[in-house]
Amino acid sequence: MTTNRGQFGSRLGFIFAATGSAVGLGNIWGCPTQAASNGGAAFLLVYLVLAFALAYPVLMAELILGRHTHGNSVAALTGIANRGLTRTIGALTGLFGIVVASLILSFYAIVAGWMLGFTVSYPLNVLGMESAGNWLTEFSTSRNLSLMAIFMVMTVGIIMGGVKEGIERWSTRLMPTLIITLLLLVAYVLTLDGAMTGLKVYLIPDFSKILSSQLILSALGSAFFSLSLGVGTMLVYGSYIADREHLPSIGAQVALIDVGIAVLAGFLILPAMYVAAERGVDIFSASGALLSEDTLIFTVLPELFATLGTAGVVLATAFFFLMSVAALTSSISMLEVPVAFIVERFSWSRRTAALLMGAAIGCMSGLIILNFETLFGAVIALSTRYGQPLLGLLLCVFVGWVWQRNSLLAELEKNDPNVRHGLFWKIWPVYVRFVCPVIIAIIFYRSLA
Ligand code: PFF
Repeated sequence: MTTNRGQFGSRLGFIFAATGSAVGLGNIWGCPTQAASNGGAAFLLVYLVLAFALAYPVLMAELILGRHTHGNSVAALTGIANRGLTRTIGALTGLFGIVVASLILSFYAIVAGWMLGFTVSYPLNVLGMESAGNWLTEFSTSRNLSLMAIFMVMTVGIIMGGVKEGIERWSTRLMPTLIITLLLLVAYVLTLDGAMTGLKVYLIPDFSKILSSQLILSALGSAFFSLSLGVGTMLVYGSYIADREHLPSIGAQVALIDVGIAVLAGFLILPAMYVAAERGVDIFSASGALLSEDTLIFTVLPELFATLGTAGVVLATAFFFLMSVAALTSSISMLEVPVAFIVERFSWSRRTAALLMGAAIGCMSGLIILNFETLFGAVIALSTRYGQPLLGLLLCVFVGWVWQRNSLLAELEKNDPNVRHGLFWKIWPVYVRFVCPVIIAIIFYRSLA
């Protein structure tokens, strides 16, 4: 079964693929701006603690469960629950994850399309094709539909290639490119006037905010979204890992790289904002808060780039290219969730499954674009604010309570016979059984309230 369904060729290949999934728009754009509006380094501190204390255990639950069953999310959850009702709940949870992954992809592809448009618009403007450049950057239904479709075709193309030839090959190419581009951008922006003020805002902690429930909620949401948790991406990627690999350390590396890139992105975004302020660009909203989200990316930064002449064109192209790459490696992991299920459950070819699921999710994106005001924000909230934490909670319950402890231990002992005497086995099971579900439930409840 393992060879038919594909497997990552190397540990590094898996790490690139999993960090590719994790590192996305959330890291480069979401995390730094949230830090800025939530007490700077105080937010970072809470984010780091939550990432390792809560998100890492859930990531491990997904990886271990996936690797144990070597199957898609439905197969994995029904595989560990062998009794009637629990089995049905397992199947429903797996299906719910597939739906949420598809919903996330349906809005993500729209935003990723905008990134593609901005990347190409700068060189086009230099070549004198301003009207095409403007069309690519101005909000319109035709632009949104066309760029989303192009992005979906790229995503489907990679997934059709399979685990090794598609996901692993492209992640191995794109992730080093992403890291190098990010480092170059940070190095350049830090040399500009005003950058140091941004750095101070980012790094000087405002501890008065550290206990605010708003801060903790944002940090947990960021950590979950950033590590692509709950929806089964890490579970499915985990199902393609060879049995010889040591999961706790591989998972720790993925979490470290993901968090590291989110922190590093702050060294780009906040200094860039204050460089923009130095050049007369407005970076604060009427309420005095830093501009964030789409206004930051599609208004403040382009205004900054426009003041920098030729360097601005290079900087802008590199920045939006970076965002496009980050989005692509994440979206392939989302599409893999339904594709793996269809291929294994209905024995369709990977090609057909990828094409049909890509088309179906593309239609959903189209629907969102045609009803943008009503659907865009609603789908984001539904999938990331409610769907992901709820799924994370269910996953912990399954791994912590339903999965037999001996079988779980046997999975970990495959590559570490002494695991039962180590720190991981002393702490992690308690975490997935008690700590994670309770804390997620509390935070989930508060976010509903
Ligand atoms: N981790 C991605 C980001 O930070 O942008 C988003 C994401 C990818 C969420 C895959 C969920 C997912 F299944």
